Amino acid sequence: MCGIVGYIGSKDACPFLLSGLQRLEYRGYDSAGIATLRQSDNIRVTKVAGRVAELDAALQHKPMAGPLGIGHTRWATHGAATQDNAHPHLGGSAAVTLAHNGVIENYESLKSELVGKGYQFVSQTDSEVVAHLVAECLKEAQGDGAEPEVQHCVDAMQAAIARLRGTYGLVVMFREFPDLLIAARCGSPLVVGVGKQEQFVASDTSPLVGFTERIIYLADHQIAVIRPDNIQVLHRDHGRVRPDIQTLSSQSQDASLEGYEHYMLKEIYEQPQSIQNALRGRIDRDNATAKFGGLNLTTQQLRGIQRVILTGCGTSWHSALVGDYLIEELARIPVEVEYASELRYRNPPVDHDTVVFGITQSGETADTLAALREMKRKGHHTLAICNVIGSSIAQEADGGIYLHAGPEIGVASTKAFTSQLTVLSMLALYFGRLRHLSFEAGQRIITQLELLPQVVEQTLGCHKQVREIAAKYADASNFLYLGRKFNFPTALEGALKLKEISYIHAEGYPAAEMKHGPIALVDENTPSVFIVPQGTVYEKVLSNLQEVKARGGPVIAIVDHEDPQVTKLADDVIHIPEIEDFLQPIVASIPLQLLSYEIALLRGCDVDKPRNLAKSVTVE
Ligand code: M6R
Repeated sequence: MCGIVGYIGSKDACPFLLSGLQRLEYRGYDSAGIATLRQSDNIRVTKVAGRVAELDAALQHKPMAGPLGIGHTRWATHGAATQDNAHPHLGGSAAVTLAHNGVIENYESLKSELVGKGYQFVSQTDSEVVAHLVAECLKEAQGDGAEPEVQHCVDAMQAAIARLRGTYGLVVMFREFPDLLIAARCGSPLVVGVGKQEQFVASDTSPLVGFTERIIYLADHQIAVIRPDNIQVLHRDHGRVRPDIQTLSSQSQDASLEGYEHYMLKEIYEQPQSIQNALRGRIDRDNATAKFGGLNLTTQQLRGIQRVILTGCGTSWHSALVGDYLIEELARIPVEVEYASELRYRNPPVDHDTVVFGITQSGETADTLAALREMKRKGHHTLAICNVIGSSIAQEADGGIYLHAGPEIGVASTKAFTSQLTVLSMLALYFGRLRHLSFEAGQRIITQLELLPQVVEQTLGCHKQVREIAAKYADASNFLYLGRKFNFPTALEGALKLKEISYIHAEGYPAAEMKHGPIALVDENTPSVFIVPQGTVYEKVLSNLQEVKARGGPVIAIVDHEDPQVTKLADDVIHIPEIEDFLQPIVASIPLQLLSYEIALLRGCDVDKPRNLAKSVTVE
């Protein structure tokens, strides 16, 4: 949550800061600001209560120059989205300027202490407390009348962060040192980009693309002391450490709209390719199984797994639910699905032959990270199913599987979801083949998996029809989404997509559960979306559909064959191609993604940046 950028070098900082903030805007977009400094000048700050485009416009009127600068795009936690609460924040009469990601849990006690010492606050944020605290520590480090030195700033940073409880990614400028930038990390990611006579900082790699390919991922409790021609990394417990300079992965390439109106639409249309990427190199036809390079478990350990825990949040939790059906059905291993936010505080009795998979697009979700850490602490092997290479979860897990879906920018997850399901299907096949699943069954599953990209491509052909259906229902205030077995999570995901981007209240349920309560919501103004492809539960879902029709509720049905029974009953029917039931959630999700997209457009909503949301949820 929130995006940070920093620049130090010989060029003007502003162009990098602004382009970086634009690329990070998906992390938070309720206010934005930058600060710059040049030799023998004061720190200049521009902040807006609005988006980066508004910051850009403000800077057209009031340009800011200087080869040192920091910037921030905010997702409000402490205090509303106002100009005063926007970052960067000044500390100690502007001796210190900083941008902060994360949450400082003990900010109130620190604030009263600083107020007692005469510091004045202009915002309600926890971040301004850090700015004043660093300024106070700087004063203490400098002592009376001493010449200011860079080492005083480093000492002040170390003293200040030693007093913080909570999470932070910080970039800090010091008025007396226009050739110094300090970055510090604890629980909130920061990457340093290494250039020639210039260095960059960002909260993920996207701002660095096109500026440098050499990067250092800061670890927790490290600070980077950054000068135009040199970077020193210090660790709280180990002192100076050698920075591990890595090469920016090609997957982090710049994500542009490429002619699409929105990232969400582009990402929906990318799914044939992203699914292909998830499959690439992972099918082993000769042994009728899948293969993964990074699980870091021996075959014997894999065979010994007695239980699997799948955890995640939001859409990734929905993937986990599908994973539950897949692994139990294909591999016969007991699976538990847990919200990461609950798992982190539970103390489930877990034996040693349990592996825990954290499913996450961003690899930065605070709850998922904390749940995996907790499971790891208890001795369990933790694995990540993750999209973002080098993200915190990818680095901290004991092993894992990358999705290779490419950057997902739209806040509503689409292609990451279908890639997660593709990977989980292969995982279930892999576990199954290590146990009872026959060679023939494995071959059949592989044939279906290999068909997926082309089946999804074909499914996208429903877009025009979905657009027409969206126009009929865009004014509804409530929607129900209903499906069973593999398509129960599909229903949950369909409902989440609609509420996230169109702000329509939507509920997903297992179709049969409806009569235990939600059926009370059915009336002529509440559309129900039924996922009713052929399969073992087809007849059952059809009965549930009839129950809704009997109560006058409009029905949109998703079917996978010419279905006279459904066609007779439903108000609108969307056809998807046939595929085996365990892959239906991937295919059936496509019209649901398009339906939300089209309805959100008709309602004039900001599809890629829906209100109150952010792409990476790095706070608890
Ligand atoms: O990056 P993650 O997959 O860990 O994110 C988890 C959720 O925050 C995320 O799926 C969220 O629910 C999306 N906005 C769904 O579209």
